[in-house]
Amino acid sequence: MRYSLLRVASLAIRGPSALFPSKPCARRRPRPPAPQTPPARARHAPPRAMPRRGGAPLHRAGAILSMAQRRSTLGALSTQGVCAMSTYKIAVFVGSLRAASINLRLARALEKLLPENVKFEYASLGDVPLFNQDDEMSMPPAAAKLKALIASADGLLFVTPEHNRSIPAALKNAIDWGSRPWGQNSWPGKAGGIVGTSPSAAGTAMAQQHLRNILAAEGVNVLTTPEVFLQTTEGLIDDQYTITNEGTRKFLQGWLDRYVAWVAKHSG
Ligand SMILES: Cc1cc2nc3c(=O)[nH]c(=O)nc-3n(C[C@H](O)[C@H](O)[C@H](O)COP(=O)(O)O)c2cc1C
Repeated sequence: MRYSLLRVASLAIRGPSALFPSKPCARRRPRPPAPQTPPARARHAPPRAMPRRGGAPLHRAGAILSMAQRRSTLGALSTQGVCAMSTYKIAVFVGSLRAASINLRLARALEKLLPENVKFEYASLGDVPLFNQDDEMSMPPAAAKLKALIASADGLLFVTPEHNRSIPAALKNAIDWGSRPWGQNSWPGKAGGIVGTSPSAAGTAMAQQHLRNILAAEGVNVLTTPEVFLQTTEGLIDDQYTITNEGTRKFLQGWLDRYVAWVAKHSG
């Protein structure tokens, strides 16, 4: 696995407060419709402060939360007001269609490391037909579903293999559908993250660089560092999606924490 020790050290030194700075609770705004302007102009309005409330919502749908759930909910209460813990949905784009994909395995391993208020939802890239501009005004259902997933997500996680020094065609195809028709680009303003793994020592570095170029053109706010160039070796992620190497697990947990904070920051 290739990553900068300096970057890891910087994360370790600054600690969790660097990832989750304490701020007043902010009410999450309803998600705006897809911007009609070119991506470069897409901007988020600053979050509005949430009015103080009298009591913490410790029950949902009539069910009393367990002590563990109460503890975790209370742990998220702001010191400046009382509000429920925000939940975040991350749409996951695994660029491989094969059942035994090492990138799918990596995505599942990251999913196991998520905090409980963050959920993954996987896009079905294999269901989306090849992009044809003739069809963009009456989208195939799978492409429309893909766009709906992007619109509903707080963050976008790209887990890419490297195919011939670039991203796989299935992933590029999905990105093209998501960007169309003109004026209804689904990607701008979303908080992106990129990881990838391959058996080679370069760990998808070139594919990731291509992907950064593409996502920049679509207006995705991609987390820049740390970068995750992971060389998969036999047994690195086991069949229960546990990362068996302690150093790799710590590094990926650090990256994931940083990415979740990035998503929270951009969700308002
Ligand atoms: C068409 C094709 C092109 C590939 N090109 C590269 C490459 O440029 N760099 C690389 O590291 N691995 C390359 N590989 C090997 C992949 O890294 C390897 O098959 C990996 O398992 C793919 O990820 P997946 O298991 O998630 O599908 C290529 C594989 C295929 C099928």
